[in-house]
Amino acid sequence: MFSTLKDPPADPILGLAKLFGSDQSPNKVDLGIGVYKDENGHAAILQTIKEAEEDLVRNQPTKAYISSAGNSLFNDEIRKLVLGNSGRTDRARTVQTPGGTSAVRAAASLLQKLKPEGRVFIPTPTWPNHKAIFPAVGLELVTYPYYDVPSGKLTFDAMMASLEGLTAEDTLLLHGCCHNPTGADLNENQWQAVSELLEKTGATPLIDFAYQGFGKGLDEDATPLRNLVDNLPETLIASSCSKNFAVYRERVGAITIVGENSAAAEKAKGHLMPLIRSNYSMPPDHGAAVIASILSDTGKAAQWRFELEEMRVRVSSMRQKLVDYMTAAGADKFSYLKDHQGMFAMLGLTPSEVKEIREGHHVHITTSGRINVAGLTESNVKYVAEAIAAVL
Ligand code: LMR
Repeated sequence: MFSTLKDPPADPILGLAKLFGSDQSPNKVDLGIGVYKDENGHAAILQTIKEAEEDLVRNQPTKAYISSAGNSLFNDEIRKLVLGNSGRTDRARTVQTPGGTSAVRAAASLLQKLKPEGRVFIPTPTWPNHKAIFPAVGLELVTYPYYDVPSGKLTFDAMMASLEGLTAEDTLLLHGCCHNPTGADLNENQWQAVSELLEKTGATPLIDFAYQGFGKGLDEDATPLRNLVDNLPETLIASSCSKNFAVYRERVGAITIVGENSAAAEKAKGHLMPLIRSNYSMPPDHGAAVIASILSDTGKAAQWRFELEEMRVRVSSMRQKLVDYMTAAGADKFSYLKDHQGMFAMLGLTPSEVKEIREGHHVHITTSGRINVAGLTESNVKYVAEAIAAVL
């Protein structure tokens, strides 16, 4: 049965690693997968993580099984990190998942169980994995227009018009902050309008919240979703520690279920548990245990916040520099990118321009034309800007 299979498609993001690895140029720059690199171009381990891991290795009492919900201290801390230290957390339950991807997948499985006829509305463009996850559990996907790549503008009116048909059976997927792949987020008024639409239609919001702390700051980035939670009876939030704790390969994420009240959230969590049990049984503990020990200790949490802020500021400064160098090199239409935030930007390169920048300049970006701004450094940003200007 295997020998007659067709060649499988490469993943549009993970598949780039092989291409980058086989590029022998000393000038090569990896702006593909969304990983933060420090000023030396290293995807380094945070000092706070290193220290907490050493403590864990010395003091961990057991490797016995945990529950399908994962590490309970981690869940309590993430719930506060996402929702804030407020009464909101009383009507919420958080369940640890293997990374943000599994958090979205857990939400998808729960939605499929509770609203099997419902549709899931995702933005165009969006993270490619969204298009795979919901159909994988049998849910119907519908796309809504979100962003016009050539003009660098949100298509908010078209988005709202296409969401008019939402019903209480449906789910609306929104990026909490640092939209992937565009970096363009809704403003306060637009979030308010979306909140009113959700209230009117009864559709469930599912917030993909993988970049908390990379936009304006930890609390600032969470403000739109916290307002949504305050206005609506039910919200699902898929969050990730991959980026803000730089623990990508440890797979640490969470699904937070907010219900009308504590009992409703508890019941929904109860329905999620067997779905997890029949899938991966329980999440891996290591990364979550490390993060729980950081977030539950005021001193360690402050040290982590400092390291995260350094990452956020560096990414934002690379974004500004990229635009300035592109403008100086003659690609002068990208000033709008300065108003966007987070790790990603879309440059509107055609697939043949992407091929040219990869093969001719050894700058590796996704075929969709997304660049990982967090992979730029003082030593490569000018080179990359000039390469972009040259292929355009
Ligand atoms: C990305 O978009 O590059 C990251 O979220 C990594 C991934 O899993 O795709």
